[in-house]
Amino acid sequence: MINDLWYKNAVIYCLSVETFMDANGDGVGDFQGLMRRLDYLAGLGVTALWLMPFQRSPGRDDGYDVSDYYAVDPRYGTLGDFVEFTHAAKQRGLRVLIDLVVNHTSDQHPWFQSARQDPASPYRDWYVWSDKKPKNADKGMVFPGVQETTWTWDDKAGAFYFHRFYDFQPDLNTANPLVQAEILKIMGFWIQLGVSGFRMDAAPFVISAKGPDVGDEPALDYDMLRTFREFLQWRQGDAIVLCEANVLPDTDMDYFGDDGERMQMMFNFQVNQNLFYALASADTRPLAKALKATAKKSSTGQWGMFLRNHDELDLGRLADDQRQTVFQAFGPDPGMQLYDRGIRRRLAPMLEGGQRRLELAYSLLFTMPGTPVIRYGDEIGMGDDLSLPERNCARTPMQWSGEPQGGFTKSDKPVLPVIADGPYGFGHVNAAEQRRQPGSLLNWTERIIRMRKEVPEIGWGTFEVLRLRDPAVLAVRYAWRRNHVLCVHNLSHAPREVSIDVGLGDEDGRLLVNLLGDEHSRADERGRHTLLLEAYGYRWYRIGGLDYLLRRSEI
Ligand code: BGC
Repeated sequence: MINDLWYKNAVIYCLSVETFMDANGDGVGDFQGLMRRLDYLAGLGVTALWLMPFQRSPGRDDGYDVSDYYAVDPRYGTLGDFVEFTHAAKQRGLRVLIDLVVNHTSDQHPWFQSARQDPASPYRDWYVWSDKKPKNADKGMVFPGVQETTWTWDDKAGAFYFHRFYDFQPDLNTANPLVQAEILKIMGFWIQLGVSGFRMDAAPFVISAKGPDVGDEPALDYDMLRTFREFLQWRQGDAIVLCEANVLPDTDMDYFGDDGERMQMMFNFQVNQNLFYALASADTRPLAKALKATAKKSSTGQWGMFLRNHDELDLGRLADDQRQTVFQAFGPDPGMQLYDRGIRRRLAPMLEGGQRRLELAYSLLFTMPGTPVIRYGDEIGMGDDLSLPERNCARTPMQWSGEPQGGFTKSDKPVLPVIADGPYGFGHVNAAEQRRQPGSLLNWTERIIRMRKEVPEIGWGTFEVLRLRDPAVLAVRYAWRRNHVLCVHNLSHAPREVSIDVGLGDEDGRLLVNLLGDEHSRADERGRHTLLLEAYGYRWYRIGGLDYLLRRSEI
């Protein structure tokens, strides 16, 4: 069995087929269009793609409401196109992950339609029902302010059904063995068509007890995760699940499994929220704490590190005053905020577009101990359209060029409006132009990805946050197979000088070789390095000098 831990040192690029590239000119992105852009993605240097849902769907939650798990939505192409795509990705060394949305289906799914029409339907028990409105029906909504309840009356069924998300997304009764068997079948199907794994949507809800009598703290069946993993590994040894689980650090190991018998990857929401707090406040201490709190993972486990994704930036796990600090800095208008807990903007406008600060944010992301996950458009600093509802503001089509509709489509009716005006309009922000400018964010991103791949210590190694006097500066040292790397970030808008003891205590710590520039550092007689970092400055150093290549080849 192949058991390649490829995801430990991967760079994942997340995209929505719908808004990436339209080849047939109907205004909707499609697999043919995506295929035409694979060379761009390979050139950028990413190693895996994560595709948001593209299965058949009424599209009321951007595809997170699936009505057929075994079909490509006809707007994006056919299963044939999908297989062409996974083949073309493979030829370029790109792995493909896809969303696995099995906490709920669309209310249009034939299973739900059958279940609601007849209490004797074989699918009745695939969903979660109650004759009476449960006491906690107005609790636990994922989209507060938009969603009013978690239990909705269905006339046809003559019962209430449970939905953790919108009312058109009835929850599957995931405790039902038949539902579990179907989930495995879905995974097996897409594995056979060439994918390397899944991003499991809403994982804590998938494994949660569901029903009218379940209280506010439902029991979680973590062992279900082991059955998913076992199945996958038996089918294809290198296939993985990347869990979307915004949970507290003390349950992380329940998801990874003490012996790594559960999920291979989890998104690190703890680090994500504290990273934004650090960017907003120039105080890196809570981020350092979050890094330490999530340092533990199984030996085969890995964190997915990210800045922004397709949802709101959820700040729900920060203390109230910290959350207010981030709101003030990055989303002061109520219209920029969402669901009482987050900010719905894209990264570039949040950071006010300055490339230096964007570089700092991305350099931080790429040096967080885990696997970086970036989002389409962020490599060129795309903006958002706050006139669009909820999370759609940050889901506008990719801006390829200065041509009409940003080169996304030949149609004048794109599926979501392309950003045309203002500083983030496609006339100013597009891939074609940035390709031609050596110092553009696009070319910077390509270079930093190349360097990230050459520093496997970050993905594979252990790390230590070094103690510094200045909370605006974060210094992290990574170790793997006798190699050491040091990354230093200044989150302040002012220059900072720091004195660092890299802590290796021998000759090794005397020389820091700058991996991104030519100003190296030699320790003073006390063994300390004095580093001057410009505003939002960042440095990546290999500790121990120029013979590292030699030493790596000894291994
Ligand atoms: C996804 C959201 C989606 C929700 C319901 C999430 O956690 O990331 O985009 O709306 O699940 O499927």
